[in-house]
Amino acid sequence: MQSLLRLLQDGQFHSGEELGAAVGVSRAAIWKRLQALEAEFDLQIHKVRGRGYRLETPLSLLNGDLLSDSSPFAVTLLQQVDSTNAEALRHLASGAVPPFLIIAEQQTAGRGRRGRSWASPFGENLYYSLVLRVSGGMRQLEGLSLVVGLALLQTLRDAGIADAGLKWPNDLLVGGRKIAGILLELSGDPADVCHVVIGIGVNINMRVAPQGEVIGQPWTSMRQVLGSQVDRNQFIASLNAQLERYLQLHQAHGFASLREQWEGSHLWQGRMVELAAGAQAVHGRVLGVDDTGALRLEVDGQEKVFSGGELSLRLHDDS
Ligand code: ATP
Ligand code: BTN
Repeated sequence: MQSLLRLLQDGQFHSGEELGAAVGVSRAAIWKRLQALEAEFDLQIHKVRGRGYRLETPLSLLNGDLLSDSSPFAVTLLQQVDSTNAEALRHLASGAVPPFLIIAEQQTAGRGRRGRSWASPFGENLYYSLVLRVSGGMRQLEGLSLVVGLALLQTLRDAGIADAGLKWPNDLLVGGRKIAGILLELSGDPADVCHVVIGIGVNINMRVAPQGEVIGQPWTSMRQVLGSQVDRNQFIASLNAQLERYLQLHQAHGFASLREQWEGSHLWQGRMVELAAGAQAVHGRVLGVDDTGALRLEVDGQEKVFSGGELSLRLHDDS
């Protein structure tokens, strides 16, 4: 199956004969295989008499060898998984030793923050979970998700997405639309030795929401912003390098050393916002973040600090 897709990923016509020879089945059996591919990965394949078969939309498939060559971390590449974060936690439970990286072409139960789901169609986006060992106690976790946001922001900018910016705590937006999200999950005791799964989802080549799914907020993808397909293997290599660099800075000097840089890319710096925690909401003006990555708001003339994974920030209507 994978070798068929690899041949078809360029979006050009390929004859039944060529495809049949490549996978060792008869010309007649190819169409059945292609229909199975269409169904499994939600793809559209056109069949034109005399020309052969082609994918309606070209793909940039992930290449395990390229990924291993370009990664400072051991890589496991999966075609389909429920969630790369869930898989990373299972690897940990079965004794895998960090640092390691789980990447998938598709997630069937991708998870977002606060129990939401993350749309994860096959072959288009990035579903990436990096597992690290954390031994320095809470200090090593403070601001970590914001630092991951900075590394991702730099990767997007290097790829030509000049307008990308951050929204506390770790969303990446372009023109008010979400292009990437980050979900950190912990395993173990944060006060002692624990492991952190850094889950990163980036909309790379997604053109439409997956069939039957509604993405409950404005979103965009690199392809939509740039107007052309992005090489996902290259993007991952670049993300690996930025993460390595930023994680080292964070480990050596803490979030305090990156705070100003983070605030400089915070899209809502100075804006009036509503911060929701469950049913409760606080209104205030964004002052920035503190040395632990917590949000600083001016509320009724006083500075207040907020942190925690369940908080959600919205722009105030009249700000
Ligand atoms: P916040 O709560 O910080 O304001 P948020 O509004 O982005 O962030 P989350 O709690 O992070 O919401 O939940 C994930 C959100 O992402 C959901 O609203 C979901 O509809 C949306 N979403 C799901 N898949 C994608 C995707 N591939 N691209 C962009 N957004 C997505
Ligand atoms: C959010 O903004 O709500 C966070 C989205 C995080 C999505 C990524 S995709 C790779 C990893 N595996 C998951 O199940 N979620 C994260």
